[in-house]
Order: sequence, then structure tokens, then C-alpha cells
Amino acid sequence: MAATLLLRLSAAVAIALFVGLLPPSAEAYDPLDPTGNITIKWDITQWTSDGYVAVVSIYNYQKYRHIQAPGWHLGWVWAKKEIIWTMLGGQAVEQGDCSHFKQNIPHCCKTDPVTVDLLPGAPLNVQFANCCKGGVLNSWVQDPVNAVASFQITVGRSGTSNRTVKAPTKFTLKTPGPGYTCGVPQNVVPPTKFISPDGRRTTQAHVTWNVACTYSQFVAQRGPTCCVSLSSFYSDTIIDCPKCSCGCQNNITKPGSCVESNSPYLASVVNGPGKDSLTPLVQCTPHMCPIRVHWHVKLNYRDYWRVKVTITNWNYRMNYSQWNLVAQHPNFENISTIFSFNYKALNPHGVINDTTMFWGVKYYNDLLMVAGPEGNVQSELLFQKDPSTFTFRKGWAFPRRIYFNGESCVMPPPDAYPVLPDSSPRLKKTTFLILSIAVCAVVAFLHNHFVLDKYCGKS
Ligand SMILES: *[C@@H]1O[C@H](CO)[C@@H](O)[C@H](O)[C@H]1NC(C)=O
Ligand SMILES: *[C@@H]1O[C@H](CO)[C@@H](O)[C@H](O)[C@H]1NC(C)=O
Ligand SMILES: *[C@@H]1O[C@H](CO)[C@@H](O)[C@H](O)[C@H]1NC(C)=O
Ligand SMILES: *[C@@H]1O[C@H](CO)[C@@H](O)[C@H](O)[C@H]1NC(C)=O
Ligand SMILES: *[C@@H]1O[C@H](CO)[C@@H](O)[C@H](O)[C@H]1NC(C)=O
Ligand SMILES: *[C@@H]1O[C@H](CO)[C@@H](O)[C@H](O)[C@H]1NC(C)=O
Repeated sequence: MAATLLLRLSAAVAIALFVGLLPPSAEAYDPLDPTGNITIKWDITQWTSDGYVAVVSIYNYQKYRHIQAPGWHLGWVWAKKEIIWTMLGGQAVEQGDCSHFKQNIPHCCKTDPVTVDLLPGAPLNVQFANCCKGGVLNSWVQDPVNAVASFQITVGRSGTSNRTVKAPTKFTLKTPGPGYTCGVPQNVVPPTKFISPDGRRTTQAHVTWNVACTYSQFVAQRGPTCCVSLSSFYSDTIIDCPKCSCGCQNNITKPGSCVESNSPYLASVVNGPGKDSLTPLVQCTPHMCPIRVHWHVKLNYRDYWRVKVTITNWNYRMNYSQWNLVAQHPNFENISTIFSFNYKALNPHGVINDTTMFWGVKYYNDLLMVAGPEGNVQSELLFQKDPSTFTFRKGWAFPRRIYFNGESCVMPPPDAYPVLPDSSPRLKKTTFLILSIAVCAVVAFLHNHFVLDKYCGKS
């Protein structure tokens, strides 16, 4: 009885451990980008009569995760009774209750303000360096210059010296959905130094606080948003995305969860209610994913082999700007050429660069258009064969993992991969039979009947 209980208990623990280890996206730690984070830097540059002026900067230090429109929403809770007098290069979403101010009305009186970027083309007198990109932050690998946003904030009713000010608390970063978890502000010593535009003078912040925010797909409460399909020149079968990868088509419980591409109401549904919603409106497919990545093994040369990658947008509500793709395959170490995409090795495992990040070429294919005839981007990859590892067997030519915009894509199960024509199980069995008969014949020829009886039986 006790033994059974113990057995059950250990089985439960083992399962819990296994499940805990299994989904890499369930934890904030990202093995492909172990230090990836968004850092908020709060630099007090000047004391005022009742508070201070600060420059708040948001650095997207994530290699391959970006924030696209409608952009970041940065919030916090004041530690005292602070108010925001003015802001440049950003604004608070709500003013809050400023009713007891008579002459100068603050920009925001909320105890938990939420701020956003200004839109491109904001008037010059409210702009600030790195502002006005509508909250869009590029990823660090794609475009470090556009991976930073900043605004200036004038704070009142705070302390007016480094001994009396208190850092804001409970920072939140929304995009605008959940996903990021922010730590507590850290006092940075020495504080940030600012270099004048002509490079001839350096000034220094009075106080600097840093807050690191990390992303987790689990916190984002998002199911898969993309899937992978496979094909090859050596097999007629196209392995489509697994059914229901991102959801199931169900007319009874979820009518209108997708639109047929040939529906006469397509335009009216796409432009109907929910037009500006961030929930994808996908074309009806068995996988129901907004994004499908297709990997086609196209050609086999003597020293090289060639793959065609196609990313298809099935979402009628989203142009994916500054999209990126991360793929893992052992042969990326010997990549020769990648056509029509930008790329960079991510080297998450130090010396082995089996992971490559791709993104679009500016003004050419950096915008993945909404579902429809234009809704795809393509590239071809040319790999140099490494004779010691190269094979078409066992699905080796297919990617190990694919991520689109930082989200892991659903792969077909390995046993569904296209197989080489000569490696079907039936053929293998016959080959094995012929081989063993041959071996037995040789053995029989060389040895006596005892050996034959022992190793080959009477069959
Ligand atoms: C955030 O990223 C920066 C740049 O990669 C790194 O120096 C820093 O240690 C990271 N912070 C955390 C808390 O991971
Ligand atoms: C405040 O500033 C003074 C003078 O610059 C410095 O000596 C002190 O360490 C600072 N205190 C804090 C808490 O940063
Ligand atoms: C849902 O409706 C479409 C067309 O109206 C049909 O093609 C599809 O098979 C239906 N799916 C289910 C699960 O009933
Ligand atoms: C996608 O981009 C095209 C061209 O820039 C634009 O006309 C269209 O309105 C955009 N669609 C969405 C859903 O943003
Ligand atoms: C991987 O590393 C090798 C050697 O450092 C380099 O030649 C190759 O271009 C790298 N791969 C990618 C995709 O950058
Ligand atoms: C592929 O890369 C590995 C590691 O850099 C190297 O040892 C091997 O020689 C390369 N193969 C070819 C065919 O260049």
C-alpha cells in the first residue's frame, strides 16, 4: 500500500518536473536570448522648486522581440503624492483628478499614471529625442537605433534632493497586452552621463534608477500564433501545419472565428466591427494560425543544398511591420547565402551557431502585408554541405525550431516528416531480411550446423 503510494507520488513529481521543464515559453528565461530584457532608465537631470525633471528612456535589449503598433504603455505607481506637471515626447493616457489645482493645471494627477509615446509628426514643441514613433520599438539585432524611446517628465510634489526623492514603484509595461514583468527600480551608481551633441561636454544625472522588464509567453497568456509546414523535392507529400495549431474551426461554438477567402462578405467582415481590434481575424484553414512558415527543401547539388522559406500572413487585421523569424538548424553553421532577407547568427550556445535570425529588407519586404495575394514574403537559403553531418534522412533537412516575432511556432510531429523514397519501413524490412539470409548463408558456408542452428534458427 505504502509502496504504491510512494510510487504514485514519485510519478506525480516526475510528471510535474517534466511538464515544468517542457514548454520553454512558460518561463521568463529565454535560452535563445538569456539576457533579453527591456530596461527603463529614469534619469533625474535637474531639481526644481517642488520636484525634478527626468529623462525616462526605454531600451529594448531583446535580440529578436520587438514592440509593434499600437506600441508600448508604460505605467507605474508613485511612491509619494507626486504629480506630473509636463511631459515632452510622451503623454499620460489619463489626466486624472486635478480639481484642486487652481492656476497651473498638471498634465496628470493620477497615483498610477500610464504613459504612451507620441505619434509620428507630433508638433516640434512637444517632441523629445527618440520620441514620437507611436510606441514602436525595434529589436536590438534588427535596428538598435530604433530600439530606444525616451520622454522628458517634470515631476512635482516629490522630494527635491537625492535624499528625499523616492523611485516610482510597480512598473508595468504593456504592448498593449500583457507579457512583460518588471522588477523593482535599482539605484545605479555612478549615474548616467550625457554627452552634448558636439561631443565637447559631458553632464551627469543627479540620480539614476533602472528597471528591467522581461517577457514570457506564459504571462502573455497567448496560445500559439504561428505554425510550420514542410515539403521537399524528394517527396510528393506536403506536411501541412498540425490541425488546430492555433485554434479549431468550429462553426457551432465559435461562428465567425474565421473568414473564407472567397466569402462575398470578406470586405464587410474585415472592415466591420472589431476592425481596429488586436484579435486576429484569420482566413479559415485547418490550422487557424495568423502566420504560417513553410520550409521547402528545394534542390540538392553536389556541394550545396537549397531551401525556400515562405512566410504567409493569414490575418486580415494585421500588416506585420519589422517582422522577424528565428530558425534553428545544425547546418546554419555552414550557411553560404541567404537571398532577399537580412540575417544574423544568434549564437545562443556560444560556439555553435545553429540559430539564425531573419528579417525583411527595408522598403522591400519588411512589411508582411495582410492576408491575401500580397500577404507573404519569401527567401531562399543556400547551405554548404558538411559531409560529416549532411543527410536527407530522418528529416535532418528540416528546421528544429521556428519562432516568428519571438513566439514559438507549432511544428509538425517528427513522424510526419517527408521521408526519403528508399527509407520506408516496408523496404527496410525487406532489405533486413535479404541481408540476414545472406549473412546466414555465409555463416552456414563457413561454420558447422551448430552455429547455423544457434544464430539463424530453423526458419
Ligand atoms: C538587460 O539587458 C542588458 C543588455 O543586454 C544587460 O546588460 C542587463 O544585465 C540585463 N538586465 C537583466 C536584469 O537581465
Ligand atoms: C546624494 O548626493 C550626494 C552628493 O552628490 C552624495 O554624496 C550622496 O551619496 C547621494 N546620496 C544618495 C542616496 O544617492
Ligand atoms: C464551417 O463552415 C465552413 C463553410 O461554411 C465549412 O467549409 C467548414 O467545413 C465548417 N467547419 C466545421 C467544423 O463545421
Ligand atoms: C496594411 O498596409 C496597407 C498599405 O500600407 C494599408 O493600405 C492597409 O490599410 C494596412 N492594413 C492594416 C490592417 O493595417
Ligand atoms: C556561423 O559561423 C560561421 C563561422 O564563424 C560563419 O562563417 C557563418 O556565416 C555563421 N553563420 C551565420 C548564419 O552567420
Ligand atoms: C562546416 O562548419 C564546420 C564548423 O565550422 C567546419 O568544421 C566544416 O569544415 C564546415 N564544412 C564545410 C563543408 O565547410
